Amino acid sequence: MSLTSLQIQAVCKLTEQVTGIQWDQSKDYLIETRLVNRLHEFGCKSLEELLRKVESSNGPERNAFIDAVTTRETLFFRDESPYIALEHKALPEIIDAKAKSPYARRLRLWSAAASTGQEAYSIVMTLMEMLPDFDRWDVQVTATDISDAALSTASRGIYTDFEVGRGMRQDLLNRYFNRVSGGWQVKDEVRSVVTFQKANLLQPFVNLGPFDIIFCRYVAIYFDVLTRRDLFERISRVLTSDGAIFVGASENLSDFGPKWLPQFHCRAVYYQPNQPRAAISLQPQHPLAGATSASPAAPRFGLATAGR
Ligand SMILES: C[S@@+](CC[C@H](N)C(=O)[O-])C[C@H]1O[C@@H](n2cnc3c(N)ncnc32)[C@H](O)[C@@H]1O
Repeated sequence: MSLTSLQIQAVCKLTEQVTGIQWDQSKDYLIETRLVNRLHEFGCKSLEELLRKVESSNGPERNAFIDAVTTRETLFFRDESPYIALEHKALPEIIDAKAKSPYARRLRLWSAAASTGQEAYSIVMTLMEMLPDFDRWDVQVTATDISDAALSTASRGIYTDFEVGRGMRQDLLNRYFNRVSGGWQVKDEVRSVVTFQKANLLQPFVNLGPFDIIFCRYVAIYFDVLTRRDLFERISRVLTSDGAIFVGASENLSDFGPKWLPQFHCRAVYYQPNQPRAAISLQPQHPLAGATSASPAAPRFGLATAGR
């Protein structure tokens, strides 16, 4: 089926409206493979019917549409250097800065477009490697994404040989994974540190933050500049005063003016807020503040609505 330019336009518009992702007219092959060839899976007879359903309700078609239009490419320890900077600079400085606060051993981190979970688990493993007395720390990593499919894979924490082959060191694989049928499962001690939650970055952050560290990598590149600016503005409000944000290698917060101060470590760049703000810190009344890090339970997987 060859798509008309009106159909392509309608898909691009709805994709941007629902997810913020900008598709241009050249993405007709993606529309063909991800939507048109799979109409029967969505229970629709035509592209128009699918778009109507996605637009008019927050039902299963919208979730399936989101799963189809999002690109969930990710890997363990993506780009490596951010995790080196996290371990050797960002976290030690944050830990020092809060040493005298009543919450000296509390760390809150957010993987803001977590995809299938590799980023969140890489963060936890970094912390576990860095803090020999990890059990005595109160650490929570919140992993959010707009895609149900991504979150369901992330919360299972099972990865194929190919997936662990991308970025996972052998010693960490031995320490933090169990061999299971179909691949490798992240051990409960790692999974229990992560809370999975559905969240659309275009919408107000509900029950999210404040955070010491935020990873918001390789998602804002799909948004237009105003959406990016608005996103990082809102992110700055859920970052603690000494907090740090990591973005993708091709992303640059300096484009948004002197508000963000770049910090360099080896080949990594991360950013800290660079303006006087009311001090934001982790307070005990924060909904996550009373939780402990060493829950033996499987990961918590709370679903909030993601539609617009
Ligand atoms: C390319 S992956 C990046 C994963 C990970 N952060 C990394 O760097 O490896 C982009 C992720 O962003 C998610 N995403 C796209 N639009 C989003 C939105 N509006 N809100 C939340 N997540 C979104 C997609 O579902 C996908 O899982």
